[in-house]
Amino acid sequence: MKTIFSGIQPSGSVTLGNYIGAMKQFIELQKDYNCYFCIVDQHSITVPQDPTELRKNIRSLAALYLAIGIDPDKSTLFIQSEVPAHAQAGWMLQCVAYIGELERMTQYKDKSQGKEAVVAGLLTYPPLMAGDILLYNTDLVPVGEDQKQHIELTRDIGERFNKKYNDIFTIPEPRIPKDGARVMSLAEPTKKMSKSDPNTKAFITLLDPPKQIEKKIKSAVTDSDGIVQFDKENKPGISNLLSIYSVLTNKSVQELVQQYEGKGYGEFKSDLAQVVIEELTPIQEKYHSIINSPELDEILDKGAGKANLVASKMVKKMEKAMGLGRKRK
Ligand code: AQP
Repeated sequence: MKTIFSGIQPSGSVTLGNYIGAMKQFIELQKDYNCYFCIVDQHSITVPQDPTELRKNIRSLAALYLAIGIDPDKSTLFIQSEVPAHAQAGWMLQCVAYIGELERMTQYKDKSQGKEAVVAGLLTYPPLMAGDILLYNTDLVPVGEDQKQHIELTRDIGERFNKKYNDIFTIPEPRIPKDGARVMSLAEPTKKMSKSDPNTKAFITLLDPPKQIEKKIKSAVTDSDGIVQFDKENKPGISNLLSIYSVLTNKSVQELVQQYEGKGYGEFKSDLAQVVIEELTPIQEKYHSIINSPELDEILDKGAGKANLVASKMVKKMEKAMGLGRKRK
């Protein structure tokens, strides 16, 4: 059986972008693959976090994974910092990655832009991510389009390690959804929707109450011509809303354009709000039944135990290949 690894940062409340670009795929995939789903908390501290808020977000993300339908009997759900092999592998792979290739990463450039002091972890994020993936002999990594560059770098780092030391890593492929791979901000539709956007109107979180979803979609930036049409370049706002509508209803964009011919943005937005609310209501109900339960801790303990077994074996292989540690007499 092939293996899947995917991680989400608890750097805020999970957005509709994270859901459509990554999480929605997980449910189908867990039927046919050996899946590892990780809450990558060590990645989230590459930008400032409030410790109390971060701990809350970690638990919340774990509950959301289960609420969208991750089955802990089929998939391994765990927290990155509870599996020390990730940090160990991340360090070893930092010694394989080149500074030049890390500096070329778009996410590094975006997140460090205009900052007076940039923490080293923001630059060395990709080798840690490469470790996350390579530790599990991962074949496929389901991600949104923004992570494609990091997966390509993971492949480069893995291949370099295999060539330089020992052929121990499976080289993974990204799995990017055909539709919804890049959900855009509701406030600035030429920018990606991000959970850490300081403007809360820019994103919908999976836990937003219905009234707030309606409000956010109604105030989503569109244009003044009032025609529901797909044209990413000239009508980025309405095109983004059409993509979201299409992914959540399985109706093609073309079908939706026909459906709203001669109708204004008001009706379109109000229908879309209902579509989003219908998608998120069952997730929210399940979330609230799980978030404070001891079962959530049991699932995460079991997940960390299983991940530890697999990942620590790979760390040993990496150390041996690099000549770390000692040979016992
Ligand atoms: N706007 C998006 N559209 C489609 N997919 C997206 N993803 C993120 N934003 C979109 C996918 O969600 C998964 C988890 O992402 P992450 O938490 O690892 O970090 P990210 O890609 O940096 O996501 P955010 O929301 O923008 O987080 P912050 O604001 O903390 O940087 C990934 O598979 C990603 O592709």
